Amino acid sequence: MKPILLTMYSENILFRQIQNQLGYDYEVVTPHTFPDQETSLTIKANLTGRTCIIFESLIQPNHKILPLLFLAETARDLGAKKIGLVAPYLAYMRQDIRFHAGESITARYFSKLLSPYMDWLITIDPHLHRIHDLQEIYTIPSSVAHATSNISAWIQNNIKNPLLIGPDKESEQWVSEIAHGSKAPYLLLEKTRHSDHDVNVAMPNIDAFQSHIPVLVDDIISTAKTMIETIKHLKNQKMKPPVCIGIHGIFANNAYEELLQAGASEIVTCNTIPHVTNQIDLSQNLIEKIKIYV
Ligand code: R5P
Repeated sequence: MKPILLTMYSENILFRQIQNQLGYDYEVVTPHTFPDQETSLTIKANLTGRTCIIFESLIQPNHKILPLLFLAETARDLGAKKIGLVAPYLAYMRQDIRFHAGESITARYFSKLLSPYMDWLITIDPHLHRIHDLQEIYTIPSSVAHATSNISAWIQNNIKNPLLIGPDKESEQWVSEIAHGSKAPYLLLEKTRHSDHDVNVAMPNIDAFQSHIPVLVDDIISTAKTMIETIKHLKNQKMKPPVCIGIHGIFANNAYEELLQAGASEIVTCNTIPHVTNQIDLSQNLIEKIKIYV
């Protein structure tokens, strides 16, 4: 029997593209909430002996996680042979150490929660910083697809004379590769985060790049404060309005509008999280990874 794709919250364009191209069956499962706020699920398809691929982008993960674990467990209970998770955006990767005394290290706890329910995991550019490999925290086989070559291609097709700018040292892993692929120079800034919404960025003098189009590149745009702060420095140095590129565009609250207002000439993201800024399609990257396990 063909593998089957299951989703609850992510029946989006990326899901449809993957399902169409692989020709797998699919089911959109709608969790039922009882009056007491408990949840139940019904999967209609016959799962006996089948590989189930659960597709969920884990933006705003808290309300999704319990139904996700129930979905995996229900599928196993109904006879699924293997259950894999494709999470184009993998949540809870940034709290990877104890920044302050007494704090939780949720990257580790989240991986402990998911691992027992899945047989494998595929994601796109998870925020690997102090944790260097998903295998350090996930106890199941995992595979990471990268957006870098897709972003390089987009830059080459759309921007003349780009200067790539990464907000901090940790962004070098993405920015250097994208710069190499798009044959553009790059520089890294120094970022200090004081709180969720308070970020400082230090920028060197970039007078020599006055004729370039600044292209800010980061893995995640959440509050957009990192990019907004960078734009202030670019304005002070009389640089051209920048293009802002994020792999995962979370855009918490009014982040998108605020980033436009701050002076971004264009905001571009990959389609790991559905948003009006999605211009870079990563369906092929995920399909290649799915074929490893199925
Ligand atoms: C940092 O850990 C990430 O790579 C991004 O720089 C960060 O998530 C951006 O967050 P915000 O948009 O809230 O400044």
